[in-house]
Amino acid sequence: MTVDERPGRVSNATPAPDPASPGSGPASPGRAPATSERSNRRAKDDLDRLPVLRATGVHKSFGPLEVLKGVELTMATHDVVCLIGSSGSGKSTLLRCCNLLERIDAGTIELFGHDLADERVNEDLVRRHTGMVFQSFNLFPHLRVLDNVTLAPRRVLGVDRGAAEARAKELLERIGLADKAHEYPDRLSGGQQQRVAIVRSLAMEPRLLLLDEVTSALDPELVAEVLDLVGELAHQGMTMLIATHEMGFAREVADTVCFLEGGRIVESGPPERIFGDPTEPATRRFLQRIIDAGRL
Ligand SMILES: Nc1ncnc2c1ncn2[C@@H]1O[C@H](COP(=O)(O)OP(=O)(O)O)[C@@H](O)[C@H]1O
Ligand SMILES: [Mg+2]
Repeated sequence: MTVDERPGRVSNATPAPDPASPGSGPASPGRAPATSERSNRRAKDDLDRLPVLRATGVHKSFGPLEVLKGVELTMATHDVVCLIGSSGSGKSTLLRCCNLLERIDAGTIELFGHDLADERVNEDLVRRHTGMVFQSFNLFPHLRVLDNVTLAPRRVLGVDRGAAEARAKELLERIGLADKAHEYPDRLSGGQQQRVAIVRSLAMEPRLLLLDEVTSALDPELVAEVLDLVGELAHQGMTMLIATHEMGFAREVADTVCFLEGGRIVESGPPERIFGDPTEPATRRFLQRIIDAGRL
């Protein structure tokens, strides 16, 4: 469940000051529009120069089990980073820490230059600027597709119903599901539900999208339509951190592939190097198993 999806948090949310948003900061009622536009643009440029995500020395344990053991990861705007590694290596936990679904024990995670450990900024930052999509679709079963997509923009961003619905229809149109706007999720295939879940995240115009094995609950014939959508988003410049076991997909869309083992990023680099000429023995062993299983 994403932060956006928690009904309690959504319904309690009021649009709050946005620490990372262009144009936030001192109000500028008297300023000439051109000046404020320019300063907004400058603020946005500054923001774009900051790393979207910077994780340093991240440690996370569950009881005696240390799951993340000093993860280092930096992402810039438009980066697509794929996390690969065996089940249990810590991919989901890392994503969940980036979305505040888990708190880290040591190290730092910064989103858009803000430390997530800072109580004053973290909730708004995460809720407004990061989207997360999971293996299981997590659509609200009692809400029609259109309402699933418009709920967070309306409740969290305060967008009025008309504008939110217009935008949602535009997004649904883009993925060929405009005709499903008034259906309930259980009338859609798994692939369609997952595409709606992705579009629901996009409706918040996230600066960072976290995707956790978004195709692993799907029947094989439905995987491609979801991967195609994610590939299209990558092409359009969406900044994404993606845990995946779809190696062909990672090789195709990632700027950087990170191989995790035992809670550490053991090796990272461009896909052609990680898949073609990995240097670490652990990476080689992992990829050999993937090749033996016919998955690469
Ligand atoms: N909430 C939790 N409580 C206890 N152990 C957990 C919890 N979440 C994950 N783990 C454990 O942490 C390890 C890493 O899990 P996870 O991050 O889900 O790995 P991956 O996504 O790479 O398969 C696993 O051993 C898993 O059982
Ligand atoms: Mg996982």
